Amino acid sequence: MKFTPSNMSWLNLPNMPTPIKALFTGYLLAIGVALLMAGLQIMLTHGMADGKAGLSVDDIVYSYYGDRSGSKLASKLNGSMKDKAPLAVRQEMTKWAQEGAPESEWDSHFKELFAQNCTACHGQIPSIPNFTEYEEVKKVSATNKGATISGLTRVSHIHLFGISFIFIFLGGIFSFAVGVPKKIKVLAIAFPFGFLILDILSWWLTKLSPSFAYLTIIGGIGYSLAAAFMWVTSMYQMFIMSRRGKIYGNAWEQDL
Ligand code: HEC
Repeated sequence: MKFTPSNMSWLNLPNMPTPIKALFTGYLLAIGVALLMAGLQIMLTHGMADGKAGLSVDDIVYSYYGDRSGSKLASKLNGSMKDKAPLAVRQEMTKWAQEGAPESEWDSHFKELFAQNCTACHGQIPSIPNFTEYEEVKKVSATNKGATISGLTRVSHIHLFGISFIFIFLGGIFSFAVGVPKKIKVLAIAFPFGFLILDILSWWLTKLSPSFAYLTIIGGIGYSLAAAFMWVTSMYQMFIMSRRGKIYGNAWEQDL
């Protein structure tokens, strides 16, 4: 028999040979679970970043931009440690922390200041930081600058490589769908890559300025929706539409 594209009328998701359907289904189930796990992980790690359950713009700002308004030292001196030192001393400590707690002023001045006001507890009670040590003071003086550049480069390239792999196979399977208008097919296949790049870009932009955090949410929702649409359509065509006993024709040829 002569091999021509037009007689490959089985080349579509409903009429696909069963071994290929098994392959596609196995893959779709595995990435389906993986995507749910990824969602759960986001909720558990980033979702709690601002101390409240559930993912919000604040969580994203906190994770990538950080909380630069002040150090732990400054907020405690203004909070539960307020009564431990006179205002002038607390202001001096706060200012020193804001400047990055330079070590040059530790021995000459601040060591003594902490000794007078704080080390009666911070140096005696084992569960709280020991302020006779410069290192421990330095730690609580640091502001939270959010994600680090090296952390971002690492997560960015893992995401771009890894998620592109998911989408090329998911889009590849979905390209055999029938009855989906060509324009929608093109958009559904291309969108996730666009949103993926937007999502990664938004992390970097959020590190620079918190106002970009909403882009992260748009990117994430965008590719989740596109992926869900392709996933559900592919499964539906392989297992529900296939039962009609109809030959649907060559899906790729129909999109030429
Ligand atoms: C009377 C004992 C006492 C004194 C004096 C005291 N602290 Fe504390 N401090 C505590 C206790 C208890 C905690 C843990 C509970 C809390 O966070 O409020 C704490 C927690 C802190 C923390 C948070 C530590 C962490 O890692 O969570 C900081 C920062 C701090 N104190 C700074 C100071 C400074 C600065 C002074 C001196 C001006 C001072 N404290 C004096 C008892 C004291």
